Amino acid sequence: MVTLKQAVQLPDIKPRTPLASLDRAAWIGRPERFSVESVAPIVGMAPHFVRRALGHGGDVTVDEVIALMDQDAFGETFVPRSQVLDYLVRESEVNQTAETPELEDYLLIEGNVTEVLSLIEPGSVQCVVTSTPYWGLRMYKDSKIVGWADGEECAYGHEQTPEGFVRHTVQILHQLRPVLTDEASIWWNIMDSYNTRTQIRGNAAEALRAMQGKETKSWADHDARRYSAGHSYLKDGEQCLLPTQIAERASRLGYFVKSVITWAKPSSMPEPQNSRVSRGLEYIIHMSTVRAPKFDKTAYRRMRPTLGGRNVGYESDKLSDVWVMPTSSGKNGHGAQFPTALPGRCIGLSTDVNDVVLDPFVGSGNSGVAARALGRRFIGIDVSPQYITSADEAISAVKGSGFEAAGRDLSEVNPHQELPMTGEL
Ligand SMILES: C[S@@+](CC[C@H](N)C(=O)[O-])C[C@H]1O[C@@H](n2cnc3c(N)ncnc32)[C@H](O)[C@@H]1O
Repeated sequence: MVTLKQAVQLPDIKPRTPLASLDRAAWIGRPERFSVESVAPIVGMAPHFVRRALGHGGDVTVDEVIALMDQDAFGETFVPRSQVLDYLVRESEVNQTAETPELEDYLLIEGNVTEVLSLIEPGSVQCVVTSTPYWGLRMYKDSKIVGWADGEECAYGHEQTPEGFVRHTVQILHQLRPVLTDEASIWWNIMDSYNTRTQIRGNAAEALRAMQGKETKSWADHDARRYSAGHSYLKDGEQCLLPTQIAERASRLGYFVKSVITWAKPSSMPEPQNSRVSRGLEYIIHMSTVRAPKFDKTAYRRMRPTLGGRNVGYESDKLSDVWVMPTSSGKNGHGAQFPTALPGRCIGLSTDVNDVVLDPFVGSGNSGVAARALGRRFIGIDVSPQYITSADEAISAVKGSGFEAAGRDLSEVNPHQELPMTGEL
């Protein structure tokens, strides 16, 4: 286990979009130059398009970066237009000298993901599977204030605006690219948020108690609250469309967006809304580093349902982009777990035995449990020491782990098994 420290009190979320624009006069004519590869993901264009727009394939000058930002094709990824040049200059000066910890079976790293990803061996991770904090939804035990590339300082998920959350997510996706193999997949589980005035609670059970009228805390008693007024365009009660924005920007970064999968949750939380339908789904964005990543569709038919095989009675023999899986019971004290079947399916589809799987927000460790049961090596990151300890307990307790067990898991076919759909996984 590798350890870095810090915990904080979170402020309320009050939508505030800074008024900022590019200071052209301060930049025009400056001498810095950048590679096409470093500029392309920041201006949201493919490297070949950047070369076409500039009419050459050499280094890009400051004036040319400004010309790219004036192109119709410009699209922000994780750095706002006013800060693109500051970011490129800053990044060209960074010197990384992190020491990579040894990975045998599994490794858990305690720390903020944007700081500790540099500890992972470049080109070593075959699959990233994770469920990130959702925007403005939960309080986690040991939140840490992170300094982001767009200048905001906040815990991940506690941004003042949904745009901030999109940027920070896309920054993490960008920082993940160097650790991935050339045929890797990323499976990014994310739920959308609504721009509403709400209390930010520790887990779904607390929210359910409030809905049943059993809440004893008043609005003022809550440690963190979210307001809806003050956003630059979102009105109160509007859906933010975060997953689609993240997927579009991931594509601009250079990833192949393979699918935006719907995770249908048969027993999702009730919602006290009268002006819209209730939500019963989350998304899993499947992205890859190449057009044809490592992908074994037949694993779906060979794996046990508890590790991601077909959920008979709810899913057909054909693996589609609608996955029906129960939510997790959250038995080991983490307020936002995904069921082991979810990471299990992603791992089974996109890795081989002994490949390295990474979960940058490991929480209770369900992705590590699935990876170990399938005989994959695993790296988990979490900012909370408590979650790292529970993840360690859960992963180390997996029986029959190791690469021999993987053979068994994949051949143990029980086509008639149904998943308990009440959160028992
Ligand atoms: C949705 S939960 C992950 C749940 C996990 N998939 C499971 O099944 O238990 C998100 C996790 O991200 C962690 N986290 C939040 N900010 C982080 C950061 N900056 N770096 C690393 N981990 C962070 C939280 O502590 C929390 O455990």
